[in-house]
Amino acid sequence: MAAGFWARLLLRLWFLAVAFLCAGAEDGRFDYYELCPATQPSMLNVHLLPHTHDDVGWLKTVDQYFYGARNDIQHAGVQYILDSVVSALLANKSRRFIYVEIVFFSYWWNKQTAQRQQEVRQLVCQGRFQFANGGWVMNDEATTYYAASIDQMTLGLNFLKDTFGDCGRPRVAWHIDPFGHSREQASLFAQMGFDGYFFGRLDYQDKKRREIQREMEQVWRASVNLQPPHADLFTSVLPNGYNPPPDLCWDMLCSDYPLVDDPDSPEYNVKGLINYFLNISAIQAQHYRTNHIVMTMGSDFHYENANMWFKNLDKLIQLVNAQQSNGSSINVLYSTPACYLWELNKANLTWSVKQDDFFPYADGPHQFWTGYFTSRPALKRYERLSHKFLQVCNQLEVLAGPAASVGSYGQGSSARLRQAMAVAQHHDAVSGTSKQHVANDYARQLAAGWEECQVLVSNALASLGSSKKDFVFCNQLNISVCPLSQTANHFQAILYNPLAWTITWTVRLPVGAWAYNVRDPSGQSVPSEVIDIPAKGSENSHPELIFPASAPPLGFSIYSVTRLSVRTPQFRDCCSPPMAQSSGPLVIQNEHLRAIFDPNTGLLQEIENLDLGLRLPVSQSFYWYNASTGDITHPQASGAYIFRPDKTKPFPLRHWVNTRLVKNALVQEVHQNFSAWCSQVVRLYPGQRHLELEWTVGPVPIRDGFGKEIISRFDSQLKTNGRFYTDSNGREILERRRDYRPTWDLNQTEPVAGNYYPVSSRIYITDGQVQLTVLTDRSQGGSSLRDGSLELMVHRRLLMDDNRGVGEALLEPGDGPGTGLVVRGRHLVLLDTVETAAAGHRLQAQREALAPQLVLASPGQDVPYSPGSPARTQFSGLRRELPPPVHLLTLALWGPSTVLLRLEHIFEREEGRAFNLSQPVTVDLQDLFSAFTINRLEETTLAADQTLSKASRLQWRTSMGGPTSPHPAPSLDPSAVTLQPMEIRTFLASVTWSEAWHR
Ligand SMILES: *[C@@H]1O[C@H](CO)[C@@H](O)[C@H](O)[C@H]1NC(C)=O
Ligand SMILES: [Zn+2]
Repeated sequence: MAAGFWARLLLRLWFLAVAFLCAGAEDGRFDYYELCPATQPSMLNVHLLPHTHDDVGWLKTVDQYFYGARNDIQHAGVQYILDSVVSALLANKSRRFIYVEIVFFSYWWNKQTAQRQQEVRQLVCQGRFQFANGGWVMNDEATTYYAASIDQMTLGLNFLKDTFGDCGRPRVAWHIDPFGHSREQASLFAQMGFDGYFFGRLDYQDKKRREIQREMEQVWRASVNLQPPHADLFTSVLPNGYNPPPDLCWDMLCSDYPLVDDPDSPEYNVKGLINYFLNISAIQAQHYRTNHIVMTMGSDFHYENANMWFKNLDKLIQLVNAQQSNGSSINVLYSTPACYLWELNKANLTWSVKQDDFFPYADGPHQFWTGYFTSRPALKRYERLSHKFLQVCNQLEVLAGPAASVGSYGQGSSARLRQAMAVAQHHDAVSGTSKQHVANDYARQLAAGWEECQVLVSNALASLGSSKKDFVFCNQLNISVCPLSQTANHFQAILYNPLAWTITWTVRLPVGAWAYNVRDPSGQSVPSEVIDIPAKGSENSHPELIFPASAPPLGFSIYSVTRLSVRTPQFRDCCSPPMAQSSGPLVIQNEHLRAIFDPNTGLLQEIENLDLGLRLPVSQSFYWYNASTGDITHPQASGAYIFRPDKTKPFPLRHWVNTRLVKNALVQEVHQNFSAWCSQVVRLYPGQRHLELEWTVGPVPIRDGFGKEIISRFDSQLKTNGRFYTDSNGREILERRRDYRPTWDLNQTEPVAGNYYPVSSRIYITDGQVQLTVLTDRSQGGSSLRDGSLELMVHRRLLMDDNRGVGEALLEPGDGPGTGLVVRGRHLVLLDTVETAAAGHRLQAQREALAPQLVLASPGQDVPYSPGSPARTQFSGLRRELPPPVHLLTLALWGPSTVLLRLEHIFEREEGRAFNLSQPVTVDLQDLFSAFTINRLEETTLAADQTLSKASRLQWRTSMGGPTSPHPAPSLDPSAVTLQPMEIRTFLASVTWSEAWHR
């Protein structure tokens, strides 16, 4: 035992010594770039970037890729890649390599011997093995929600920080494969402290123009709200996507000619290849502005036999540089993206500025990658819901302290869900572009994460509520299934609110055909209603209990529900007679809104905002595009990535619908039946400022031989002048114009698909006075193809693969064999003036993304948590709620007594004027939390891997002025933390948990 102890201590000391060597001088940035290879100032320097692109699931699952299983699907094995690359780097000091996907790297790292780890540490600290990007995955940019993408970057970057210190910190962001690039992603990267950003995919017309105009590299000003250069990011478009130049692919997955340098060999090819190389280098240099260019030497899952690549690159470098003695002025070297960036920075040029984004992406005239904005809508919803549950889990892990992890319900943890969520951000995961079995595996990982969080949440609720109960998580409430509430005589409904504001919410639960009594946390009866909506084609009744509830900030309220001994009361929902017999318009309304339906068609006809006296005639219905299977002009079919309708006009699903009206004191609904596979409930609860449209679509029929892409479309007479607005990853809004791109003269070749944009959380149209906004509950594609109109694609079922590698048609299976997927979702519609709109949609979008988590508890086992402590029916983790502009973005356990805390100002500078919401806001964090007191607060960069005051980024001179030097980090007073519009501030707080918490 003692020997083991000393061995471990010695090993530790050894690591410490090496860590010290790695740490180097004070200024980490300087050190890092000083390790870069020498270049030739008077020559064209060609930086070879050996790299591998390892998808975190696509054709194979994450584990299949890591272990190299199922090579019959695709030959790929990440563990072998890392083994092979490290050996190749150790064999030759001049070689360099970058690695990107930290989930794979961490798997591999944890399986290495101490000696191997030590060798890798040295390679990393010598700059020969560098990390780029450093997220757990390389996340998608169109369909991700900003908070989830911050979470996944935080996970990856902090693995690197903990493992390698500052040596391991990536200096560049590297999104070489995502299918288009969002402005918010660039802004987040800038706030994470990256010096530059590299990617490969952009519209082919845009790329051509940039090559000609030498504008492949720019400074992206990625926020209109944050003060430059806070969200400025130097951005470089790679020359060949992320592939090597033609004929220079030397992986075992390629079949290009190796360099044969023996002049006696009949295969000798040096002269030809070297001339070719000199030639393509010179041509490429014409598209870039300095005497440095890059070549990405690698591709998908390359370097499994690293020797093949490196051996040929060694020769290439030696042979090309040997030409310098013959007057060649081309210098080739092993390099990394960070080292290339460093040379560009030293060149001290003035760069143009980009302010829009890189959506949509097209790689040809009929090849718009706008289908994946909607592909796999159920996975997209599950991902968004899982994001919410992870925040709930994170918060309770902090608020309940150690009692959350180990308690009466077992060991719970947020770690598994955090990792599963990070994996789900990958650009073939939430994007919906993986094979079906891989999509199933993403869902499996999320479900396993949910399980561990459910244990944690149970432990925490028992501890904070001082009562052990049988907690039940009804995970099928979306299809109105919950055995407990449907059968129990008595149960409790616990409403946990992850927002830092008090919320009100209408709880809706499937129940038995009885009357119920509902009591609030203080024991008072609250109004409730049971409504009964017979499912289509079924005699069965499906009663649902509705009652209004509220929950304090970062806390819960417990409602108790008791069945009364009377059978189903006379339903007061007074269902309207069938359409034909009804007279006059159908109307639903509450104190804020009225929605009127056309009596002849049953479709929405008008919305009125009663507070503002604003009426807008607007109709809404469902339509479908017939998915192209290729045609005479081009063989491109609609598929998982690509949206290509075969006609510009979609088919209406139905010109009129059967309706049913439900009205009682707690809800007013119009049920619309469009077809056997499409229905909708248009709903208003009291107090709600939005109209809720809950749609159910699927299985989309395909027996007629047509793939179908289903949209929900709103039509009004608003004069919108070709413009509409979409959010970027749930944050800032971008203006979109039909058949137009802000940075080049668009030749529009797909009038529908070429006008589709990602909608992460909202889309709106306005005539300058009136604004019609639709909030979504997941990412979808959306557009406005005619003035006054806006549409969202809700579901797609396709018969053809679109030839981008996935090799499957997007034919998601439903429950039964041979059936298709049914998807349910909600659109929230808001009608406002432009002055008042933001207040509603910003706050409602947060309420939607972080809606209260409902946990049920059955009676019988309601035993005290500890003797003498009375059960709590209400709890708040905050002493006071935060002001409306301030959102608590993250509250998560970071260490034994450290908490990760992010605060976000959710308004843009110009939008909250009417209610003064766009002002800077100051909050006092000192005694904000009831569970702990903050002893010390350290501000960090966005991903929490650098102390903000020590972080520095490379500066760039731009055509809009500069170099703009960054502002010094503001001094930190926990009692007065100020947030500017759209600002996110990240803190690590050392805390002491309140005694009372751990009875
Ligand atoms: C960069 O260029 C500007 C303008 O030409 C010049 O004033 C500045 O000194 C240069 N900086 C360096 C480090 O060379
Ligand atoms: Zn990829």
